[in-house]
Amino acid sequence: MTTVVVVGSGIAGLTAALHAHEAGCRVTIVTKGALVDTNTRWAQGGIAAVTAPGDTVASHAADTLTAGAGLNDPDAVDVLVGEGPARIAELVTRGVAFDRNADGDFSRGLEAAHAVARVLHAGGDATGAAIQAALGNAVGAAGIPVREHALLRDLVVDRGRVSGVDLADGERLAADAVILATGGAGQLYAHTTNPLGATGDGIAAAIRAGAAVADLEFVQFHPTALAVGSPFLVSEAVRGEGAVLIDDTGRRFAFDAHPDGELAPRDVVARANARAMAAQDGHPVRLDATSLGGERLSQRFPTIDSAVRERGLDWGRDPIPVTPAAHYLMGGVVTDLDGRTTVPGLYAVGETARTGVHGANRLASNSLLEGAVFGARAGDAVARDRAWPVSPTPPARTSPVAVDRDAPAFSRAALQRLMWDDAGLVRDAAGLDRAAATLAAWRAAGRLPSIEDDNLLLVATHVVDAARARTNSVGAHHRSDAADSASIPPSPEVLAC
Ligand code: SIN
Repeated sequence: MTTVVVVGSGIAGLTAALHAHEAGCRVTIVTKGALVDTNTRWAQGGIAAVTAPGDTVASHAADTLTAGAGLNDPDAVDVLVGEGPARIAELVTRGVAFDRNADGDFSRGLEAAHAVARVLHAGGDATGAAIQAALGNAVGAAGIPVREHALLRDLVVDRGRVSGVDLADGERLAADAVILATGGAGQLYAHTTNPLGATGDGIAAAIRAGAAVADLEFVQFHPTALAVGSPFLVSEAVRGEGAVLIDDTGRRFAFDAHPDGELAPRDVVARANARAMAAQDGHPVRLDATSLGGERLSQRFPTIDSAVRERGLDWGRDPIPVTPAAHYLMGGVVTDLDGRTTVPGLYAVGETARTGVHGANRLASNSLLEGAVFGARAGDAVARDRAWPVSPTPPARTSPVAVDRDAPAFSRAALQRLMWDDAGLVRDAAGLDRAAATLAAWRAAGRLPSIEDDNLLLVATHVVDAARARTNSVGAHHRSDAADSASIPPSPEVLAC
């Protein structure tokens, strides 16, 4: 019987675990917090898939490719959109109660860069929480052991093959295969919609184990995080329902950047917000949802409504201040279409993986779908894999770095500020070189005492290396020094309201 350790407990990890278990593997789930402490739990807008009579997988694929600026792997996109409906049916079977209309059909939201409304949601804007709960129950019912509060220290690599995991408490779990599903690394940045646990643990462990990573320059910034108190995501679905972005003069500015205005691809809207903020000395732009009315807002978006009201705002009456914030990592550990990495015995799924499905910018609400589709494929593959296909490891794209001898001492806050300022929404060679030199100085001191800080530092180094190597602007990677770039100021200083 194949023994499998799944690291991470969001939609990708739990789906992989359930599929591997159902295919006859002996599975253990390891997660650094409680089972529910995941990015998945915070997902609001929903999960995109073709379920409407007039919709087609070709249309969903076209939208995914357009948002990804054509850098997507078309085979991965075909898998994602083609297998999406089956994974939705599976989620329903596992107990996810997606919202339905009076006719009993799915209620579908519209989000940016989707040609049609195809985003399923649950509990209004609590889609991730509903999925997390249902999959957690399914794991419990299946009797899959879960090790909570168990932080991954490193992968065990034996003669070029992964053979288990070492945990922070010193315990070693042996396994025939390890599936990394630890999410992304939003904590690289001073402003992020991600929870505290998003520290790139799986990506960093895979890098240390020799796995190939790619596309790490593509960091998605969500256009609308609340700019009062700690950043809190205000779902794109709010704009899909008709909310608009305005500057301090009350002018809608998003059409200056794209004919689709507020519903342009996410990277375009995030940069439009940054530009408008810079023009008003860093003051947040405002999301005007007043046309929807307080009652509709609280019914359709109860989670956001609570967060808005907790901050003393009334979004049914007044526009609310919003700012871009780091949201999602398109790149990650390179995998094939079944989650296999370049290291035998090691799989990666969800935000940890780089399947190529998102290209340079992920389409809204394709992330939960990615977790479901590629989690299932990896869970199925791990049970049947015997030999490991030889995949060439792409050469690393690093360029020489001058170590900054005057760098400040490392701290999480200093790293996040550095990444926000110099490797954020808008980059240039001078800022990226500065970031690389500071990161090199911090790395020169050896591994940091905190595993998570050490992981962030390693992932930051790869993000900056990749961003230095890509000298053009494409998708979420915007270089103000590229010949083809419109002039945009650097990542905005976010002023508190
Ligand atoms: C949102 O609800 O705007 C976020 C959904 C996503 O990241 O796709």
